[in-house]
Amino acid sequence: MRKLKNNNKLVIVGVGHVGSYVLADAMKLGLFSEISVIDINKEVAFGEALDQAHATALTYMTNTTVKAGDYSECADADVIICAAGPSVLKSSEDEMPDRALLAVKNAAVIREVMTGITAYTKEAIIIMITNPLDTMVYIAENEFNYPKGRVFGTGTMLDSARLRYVIANNYNIDPKSVTGYMMGEHGHTAFPVFSRLNIQGFGEKELDQVFKGKEPLHREEIGKQVVKSAFDVLNGKGWTNAGIAQAAVTLAKAIMLDEHSVYPISTTLRGQYGYDGDVAFSMPCIVGRNGVEKQLEISLDEQETEWLHKSAKYIQETMKVAQT
Ligand code: LAC
Repeated sequence: MRKLKNNNKLVIVGVGHVGSYVLADAMKLGLFSEISVIDINKEVAFGEALDQAHATALTYMTNTTVKAGDYSECADADVIICAAGPSVLKSSEDEMPDRALLAVKNAAVIREVMTGITAYTKEAIIIMITNPLDTMVYIAENEFNYPKGRVFGTGTMLDSARLRYVIANNYNIDPKSVTGYMMGEHGHTAFPVFSRLNIQGFGEKELDQVFKGKEPLHREEIGKQVVKSAFDVLNGKGWTNAGIAQAAVTLAKAIMLDEHSVYPISTTLRGQYGYDGDVAFSMPCIVGRNGVEKQLEISLDEQETEWLHKSAKYIQETMKVAQT
């Protein structure tokens, strides 16, 4: 029987560029009465926590108890966000380095993190950020016997925001007025589900009419532009953190408020699209207090189906590398 809790608690594992931004966003969300941070560099964890603790004395900030600790902090956590491990490929000459190149190094990190977490809990909902994301989700979900649905990854949440941004920019409208998302890998093989994309009900075929004179949308081009936009940020500032942190805390809110929101997040497929337990990637899922409540197998057109299988195949190749 779970002991009664009188706190809403978040634990963040890894407070580098991404985790520290997650901490800042989570503090402002005001949903957690307690936030603990864990990092391999204990001084950094202490400094990030103390910095945010000072901020609680300022207007509009919730008086959250924020501190550094070890994995025992997970015992009464409601949500754990994992941003551990390197997120940037060092000295990569490639303008668009592949997140999959982090597979071996970060697989070891995630196995260490999940060993630490599962020593204290198998109830907290774990949101994975560490790349290559889908492979890390697959390891966390399937190697530690964690309850189904209680581990998932940010997946193509951020890629989908970037898609909406690109579409909105094309028509000079608010990105939040665009309904659309990416599916598959959080990586080079992510693809736009154009057959379902719409602007307040105006679908792909009508947009050229409604927005006469604007550049017509080319699916492949837009998909490439979305994937590349991550690297536009990376090549500009050396890492990405604001967008992914916002995606993670949006998911944390959906969990804490039991919102039953539908988001494109990464989790192991259980029979959808012909995959049963052998790959994890992003598809529309209902997210609430118990994590992933349902995976929604939306029907795709022929081109999207081809892209989906290409993405799944690439992730499975990355998974093999991570097993070495
Ligand atoms: C990005 C990182 C989180 O796409 O993979 O910004």
